[in-house]
Amino acid sequence: MSVFYCEKTRTFYLNGKNISYVMQVNFENYVEHLYYGKSIACDDLSYTMHEYGCHSAMNSLPGKDNTSGYHNFQPELSFYGTGDFREPTVEVLNPNGDRLTELLYDSHEILTEKPPINGMPSLSGGETLVLHLKDKVTGFCADLYYTVYDDAPVVARRIVYKNCSDSVIRLNRAYSFVLPIPETKYEAMTLHGGWAKERTPERTPLHHGVFSIDSKRTSSSAAINPFMAVMTSGATESSGEVYGVSLVYSSSYVLKAVMDADSRVYLTGGINDFDFSWKLEVGEILETPEVVLAYSANGIGDMSRAYHDAFREHIINKRFVKAARPIVINNWEGTYFDFNGEKLKRIADGVVGTGVDTFVLDDGWFGKRNDESTGLGDWYVNEKKMGESLDSVIAYINSLGMKFGLWFEPEMISEDSDIFRAHPEYAIGAANRPRTYARHQYVMDITRPEVRDYIVNSLNSLLKKHNIEYVKWDYNRYVTESWSLGREADRQSEFAHRYALGLYELCERIIEANPTVFFEGCASGGARFDPAMLHYFPQIWTSDDTDAEERTRIQYGTSMVYPLSAMSCHISDIPNHQTGRKISMATRATVAHLGATGYELDASKFTDEDRIRVKSEVEEYKVSADLILNGDFYRIDSPFETNRFTVCIASKDKEYAELIAYRRIGSVNNEIVRIKAAGLDPEKRYYVKELEKELCGSTLMNVGWTPKYPGGDFTCIKYHIKAVK
Ligand code: GLA
Repeated sequence: MSVFYCEKTRTFYLNGKNISYVMQVNFENYVEHLYYGKSIACDDLSYTMHEYGCHSAMNSLPGKDNTSGYHNFQPELSFYGTGDFREPTVEVLNPNGDRLTELLYDSHEILTEKPPINGMPSLSGGETLVLHLKDKVTGFCADLYYTVYDDAPVVARRIVYKNCSDSVIRLNRAYSFVLPIPETKYEAMTLHGGWAKERTPERTPLHHGVFSIDSKRTSSSAAINPFMAVMTSGATESSGEVYGVSLVYSSSYVLKAVMDADSRVYLTGGINDFDFSWKLEVGEILETPEVVLAYSANGIGDMSRAYHDAFREHIINKRFVKAARPIVINNWEGTYFDFNGEKLKRIADGVVGTGVDTFVLDDGWFGKRNDESTGLGDWYVNEKKMGESLDSVIAYINSLGMKFGLWFEPEMISEDSDIFRAHPEYAIGAANRPRTYARHQYVMDITRPEVRDYIVNSLNSLLKKHNIEYVKWDYNRYVTESWSLGREADRQSEFAHRYALGLYELCERIIEANPTVFFEGCASGGARFDPAMLHYFPQIWTSDDTDAEERTRIQYGTSMVYPLSAMSCHISDIPNHQTGRKISMATRATVAHLGATGYELDASKFTDEDRIRVKSEVEEYKVSADLILNGDFYRIDSPFETNRFTVCIASKDKEYAELIAYRRIGSVNNEIVRIKAAGLDPEKRYYVKELEKELCGSTLMNVGWTPKYPGGDFTCIKYHIKAVK
């Protein structure tokens, strides 16, 4: 039983894998947070309450002089205006203009199955506690959901706000959670970035006041991922306490780590309350996005593995998460917009017999699109450009034994398109101002049902008509002029959240309606790499930067939260199109094999020798594929801090592991370093093929060995480590 309620003390105990979460309803019916961390017994923790006492600078409860006030209690939900000066979890604008709430315990339920969120992705899960809080004066309610898991040390949380009053109210803030954590010295780690430099880890010491990250882009964005880890100062991959926060959300968000005047620390956030307000009619509810809290007592690595397990088991599209991934040849860097049917067929010919099993036709096959400036939204095949029908290209690809995939950018619209000429109101924009271009394009107003219908009908009819077995769903610009012609003035601040709801509806109606089609996510590379997108897209194009050296950093940062199988990684040509760098094929392949792999180059130029090499790379990838889908990932040397990128992936049963040792700049005498394996069974004996040695797991993990990197820059060695029977 993972949820236990002690009636006598009115205490809730949640027990998940290696973790406990405890809270109690206090004398004022306020739900006080008592504990979150390593597993503990279901002891009475009342003795830890109200440790802050009541002194002259503190206020008491409304209407009750000389009591301990709300500010003194550790919150599960903070509300504004009645003596709690922390960041409120919710702010309600009542009809008389006051912004006051007092959300106190009313009742609770223990559900055997976590109900899905209406219209938003969330973790699947088991036993769930729902706390019903209510404001007795207005009738406003908040339901707090908590789910713990026996296969990952995470807690899934969300809040549902309900207008049970008899008048219309407005929410000016509606966060998903608040989590107090013990007082100590902390650092926050976040993942900042941008196009071609996604998800760079950055550590910032927490200070008194608010440390905050957010997106105002109507997208989770490449600028900063909707994730934050707060860890004891100096935490490493394998030491220190770490509290991870990952928001299952794809639109504008905010996450905060706050240290208050008493040095108490808490984490909070959810939908960004900048440019947000939500009108709640009588009886209406607002569901907030889920947040996944991960706890590790042993450093950042365990937190990452907690997320990898939780996302693989509970959120990523179940049909595909554990299935062998397509190994693709994508034509984008091979041709850009310059192709026709013949050229595509020759590229496909280039990989025949190599094991590459899916051909993906990227941008430029539709409307009148020959460059970035036209055609988005006109989802009909440009047969004139192709010189033949799409079906004849697909038939040819299929005759080679390969599946066919197609690129779409469903949320976008070009000014120079038939659909924009017919329906300019389909593009997001204010009525009285020009729209802002980005990549020469506008964004479709998917908050409008007729726009969603247009997109769904366009894509679904193409998917029905042609034998398309793979879709790359792109999204190449952020939203500006967040304003919908289809909505009243007093609901325009609902735009960013309505965009997310529109996006999830599109995904449901297209992806769920085509259950055999494999959908890959993309957003100028990884500009919308979040757990909500992973629910629909088992893998996401990690970055437009395909240079192996740069990819070591991007993939390293991405692995902080997301499993390797979620990262789409291609082997591209040299000189690399983004950096001009020339890196050996062996290194490019080894780095691109740390994810869902494929090729992105003009394979029509392949020689027989190239084909033999690609065939052996694909065979090598297939050896690693199970580790990529199911293994435990360990970061050993950081490419941000060292000249190396060393990682190890171990199977759950610890029978097999691979260690990848990459060295950036070669040197004669500078890099004599030991590397140590991780994730092995210390008791088992292993044969390490490349060392030609049998050693015990404890030796490999504690003594390690000195790799003999091949000469030159950007070289690597992969060690195959297999348990000896
Ligand atoms: C984005 C994607 C690329 C490619 C182009 C096509 O940049 O990230 O992989 O699909 O769009 O325009």
